[in-house]
Amino acid sequence: MFDFDKIINREYTASVKYDLRTDYFGKADVLPMWVADMDFETPEFIRNAVIQRAGHPIYGYSIRTDDFYHSIMRWLDSRHNWKVEKEWILFSPGVVPAINFAVQALTRPGDGIIVQPPVYFPFFNAIKNNNRKQVLNPLMLKDGKYTFDFDDLEQKAKQAVMLLLSSPHNPVGRCWQKEELERLGEICVRNNVIILSDEIHGDFILPGFKQIPTATLSKEIADLTLTCIAPSKTFNLAGLATSSVIISNPEMRNTFEKTLEKVHISNGNLFGTVASMAAYNNGDVWLDELMTYVRNNYLLLKEAIKTEFETLDITPLEATYLAWIDFRKTGLSSKEIKDKLIRKAGLGLSHGPLFGIGGDGFQRMNLAAPQSIIEEAIHRLSKVFD
Ligand SMILES: Cc1ncc(COP(=O)(O)O)c(C=O)c1O
Repeated sequence: MFDFDKIINREYTASVKYDLRTDYFGKADVLPMWVADMDFETPEFIRNAVIQRAGHPIYGYSIRTDDFYHSIMRWLDSRHNWKVEKEWILFSPGVVPAINFAVQALTRPGDGIIVQPPVYFPFFNAIKNNNRKQVLNPLMLKDGKYTFDFDDLEQKAKQAVMLLLSSPHNPVGRCWQKEELERLGEICVRNNVIILSDEIHGDFILPGFKQIPTATLSKEIADLTLTCIAPSKTFNLAGLATSSVIISNPEMRNTFEKTLEKVHISNGNLFGTVASMAAYNNGDVWLDELMTYVRNNYLLLKEAIKTEFETLDITPLEATYLAWIDFRKTGLSSKEIKDKLIRKAGLGLSHGPLFGIGGDGFQRMNLAAPQSIIEEAIHRLSKVFD
């Protein structure tokens, strides 16, 4: 029903992914597969809602009406079996800002905050820029599968007041199972560690897996959990700066809200509100089709890696549209891999070491693009790594 094969020229649209290539890779013509937004068009039902609102000639201060909140509540209930109340939903322009607000609101300078690398690198910045202490609980990698290191977490939880959880996990693509999240949650409850559950990729779940919102595990876990969600990844709306933080614990919510009030951003973004509502009200069918398409892209890459590239491996993708590719068997250093990819293959991927411990020898490839782009990426890879 939807044309995910369509190539859309994004150059000169002030796109980070396309128009910062020279700044970032030193080359304007790399195939950009780095920044986590999609090369698919935002679905028509969202564009129409924005165009309709844009047709009204005044873009003054706006509010988020009950319909806005109900669209989020419906989405979370129908897609993730999570019944949230309107009062629990707070606004943030983005998930990264929300993580920083949470750190500022709920921890103090010098406090320990746990991160589980390799992980989305702004997590590290939120700790460093707010003068908190980074406590590392690296993921374990065994036979190509990533898991939490619970023994280490038991120790680290004693030194921390907050844990930044990527669920599902960027970049390793794990959709955490209920038992894993329960065990993690129980450790946090026992040690009174707040969980910031970043579930921005929670709508991108491949068949056979199920996203379990951390806050649905138990009342005790919900009481110390803040959950970040957004239509930005799911429907390709990142430029509209609209996301939500869900906190059921009234005391924690109050504290978080005070930090939001200090920076006075609660008005939000008129077009972001309109787009978010249209997405969450009407997006089910589009998202299901999108995931079938992304899965096919993943299978295409996986098959190519298995049959054509002896020195590469791909981490099994359970969620997200980000492939985590293992180049370690090439015997090259991360810098050499990066240089070859950029200069010889003309590929702009996300550099593994940026994701912290465990990122060495890996590169992340964005699969949310027309199939012909994935084919081109495989072709370019084969020029260098066959
Ligand atoms: C795990 C994770 N959190 C947050 C973000 C970005 O959030 P935002 O653009 O809403 O600040 C991303 C984007 O790649 C992400 O992968």
